[in-house]
Amino acid sequence: MRIGILGSGLMGGKLGTLFARAGHEVVFSYARSERKLKRLARQVKGNARADTPADAAHDADALLLAVHWLRMDDVLKQAGDLSGKVIITCCLPMNADDTALVVGRTSSGAEELAKKIRRGKVVSAFGTVPSEVFFGVFAARRRANRPSMAYCGDDDAAKNVTATLIRDVGFDPVDAGPLRIARYLEPFTLLMGQLAYEGDGGPEFAYRFERFEE
Ligand SMILES: NC(=O)c1ccc[n+]([C@@H]2O[C@H](COP(=O)([O-])OP(=O)(O)OC[C@H]3O[C@@H](n4cnc5c(N)ncnc54)[C@H](OP(=O)(O)O)[C@@H]3O)[C@@H](O)[C@H]2O)c1
Repeated sequence: MRIGILGSGLMGGKLGTLFARAGHEVVFSYARSERKLKRLARQVKGNARADTPADAAHDADALLLAVHWLRMDDVLKQAGDLSGKVIITCCLPMNADDTALVVGRTSSGAEELAKKIRRGKVVSAFGTVPSEVFFGVFAARRRANRPSMAYCGDDDAAKNVTATLIRDVGFDPVDAGPLRIARYLEPFTLLMGQLAYEGDGGPEFAYRFERFEE
């Protein structure tokens, strides 16, 4: 697939690199310097290049949206018309100093984004995992016991594209349901972040769901 990266920082840089290593064609866009985008593309040593958000969006089979919530309107304006596009967002609706969600309870960042993009096919994915783990998960992707990743959205075709990319990075995709489930996933990511960055010695968190049959 051709994947446009809108926001080439910690999340966009790493995921774009792994999408390219998995065989996709990647266009890195939206950073503060063009040199950084070109360096990222060069380091991939594969099918990747740097360009503008509008070019990244043009002909893309999927777009990864990975910017701070405050940059959302700017990157969308630069990307242009995204109607009909698969837009995978890992963005959390955080305030300027990243201390709290600015959308919650009755909506989510993903749903607010879907309202902004006319006829866009928004899927929420990748945001539940700190960017530090992606390379390790990719390196271990052939192991039987792969970590799961929940994603949600309202468009089945867009969700299939997303599930493929989640699998390509090394996770088992778990369809968590419609886009409104992002109301629960987004606060959950804060818990994961808290454990990853502020916990004593890193994340030591395990959970398990068991379904009891009669
Ligand atoms: N990092 C994580 O582990 C993580 C986990 C879950 C969810 N998220 C969410 O994912 C999204 C992206 O997070 P991130 O950590 O990848 O952020 P980040 O590293 O700050 O990346 C944001 C990108 O936007 C670019 N940017 C910022 N201001 C710009 C401007 N004025 N003009 C052009 N480009 C600009 C940055 O450019 P530069 O590259 O030049 O800085 C960078 O490439 C956020 O919504 C965050 O809440 C992150």
